[in-house]
Amino acid sequence: MRVLAAILTYAMLAPAVLAEVHHFNWTAGWMYGNPDGNARRQIIGCNGEWPWPTIRIKEGDTIELYLTNGMDNQTTSLHFHGLFQQNTTIYDGVPGATQCSIAPGQTMLYNITVDGQFGTTWYHSHSDAQFMDGLRGVLIIDPKDGKYPYDYDEEVVLTLSDWYHLGVDYIRPDFMNRFNPTGAEPIPQNLLWNETRNGTWNVKPNTTYLMRIISMSGFVGIYVYLEGHDFEIVAVDGVPTENLRS
Ligand SMILES: *[C@@H]1O[C@H](CO)[C@@H](O)[C@H](O)[C@H]1NC(C)=O
Ligand SMILES: *[C@@H]1O[C@H](CO)[C@@H](O)[C@H](O)[C@H]1NC(C)=O
Ligand SMILES: *[C@@H]1O[C@H](CO)[C@@H](O)[C@H](O)[C@H]1NC(C)=O
Ligand SMILES: *[C@@H]1O[C@H](CO)[C@@H](O)[C@H](O)[C@H]1NC(C)=O
Ligand SMILES: *[C@@H]1O[C@H](CO)[C@@H](O)[C@H](O)[C@H]1NC(C)=O
Ligand SMILES: *[C@@H]1O[C@H](CO)[C@@H](O)[C@H](O)[C@H]1NC(C)=O
Ligand SMILES: *[C@@H]1O[C@H](CO)[C@@H](O)[C@H](O)[C@H]1NC(C)=O
Repeated sequence: MRVLAAILTYAMLAPAVLAEVHHFNWTAGWMYGNPDGNARRQIIGCNGEWPWPTIRIKEGDTIELYLTNGMDNQTTSLHFHGLFQQNTTIYDGVPGATQCSIAPGQTMLYNITVDGQFGTTWYHSHSDAQFMDGLRGVLIIDPKDGKYPYDYDEEVVLTLSDWYHLGVDYIRPDFMNRFNPTGAEPIPQNLLWNETRNGTWNVKPNTTYLMRIISMSGFVGIYVYLEGHDFEIVAVDGVPTENLRS
């Protein structure tokens, strides 16, 4: 009887607890890091760590995120790539357009209910090119009912980016310069997979993977090819596609 009552109570409560509020309290600050293993340099970390944490929520959930600017020499902001931001444009994170920059020492609340969309995306600073200095992370929104409109056995996250041994403030002067009239881009020192050169992925036979591929690149367009395996693009920027396999 008691068991049954517990089950009933749970069943009654379940709909009410479906949408969750996810709390984050983050400080962006300068720290040293060496993502490619070849050069220690200053990067922008989250609460003294890098890479930045993955945000994973369900459609209908709310992100309540306090971002404090712990950098003493730059303003900052946080943009959530591809979110519709219906009725919450003030949290779209674009300084000068939807918000004032977050000044050093200041905190801003981003309070976003994500609805009507799901999929793989990322968040990043929208100030200057701070995402190239490390202020970026993975954002995954699962469908409300947990069911994706495509079949797979397992999933894997794969972020990709170019990486420079110099910070943005040192790259920019040569790039945005009248002596660079063709806009020749800086040459990266490395490419990162999952923010490292040492990522490994043990692939099982006869398994269909949902690869959540996210380009966090500043300049470089990166092509991904897995030799001897079929690829089917099932969604782009959180929008399910028709079968694009050639
Ligand atoms: C965030 O963390 C800071 C430092 O630990 C703390 O002072 C502040 O009260 C926290 N804010 C929230 C909203 O939790
Ligand atoms: C990758 O592994 C090698 C060998 O263990 C190590 O020397 C290097 O620092 C590592 N690189 C990164 C980016 O962790
Ligand atoms: C701010 O400080 C960081 C860390 O010392 C440095 O790498 C960056 O270039 C500085 N940015 C500016 C605009 O001075
Ligand atoms: C946005 O606000 C309008 C007007 O109050 C409302 O009709 C609409 O449902 C809201 N949209 C969302 C996604 O909250
Ligand atoms: C976030 O927005 C919701 C909906 O407008 C509101 O109920 C809630 O109080 C807000 N959270 C904070 C911390 O302001
Ligand atoms: C990439 O990083 C994510 C988050 O740390 C991890 O879940 C995933 O397995 C990694 N993928 C690969 C291919 O290393
Ligand atoms: C993979 O599937 C094929 C076709 O169903 C089967 O012949 C093969 O034995 C499977 N291989 C493994 C390692 O399970």
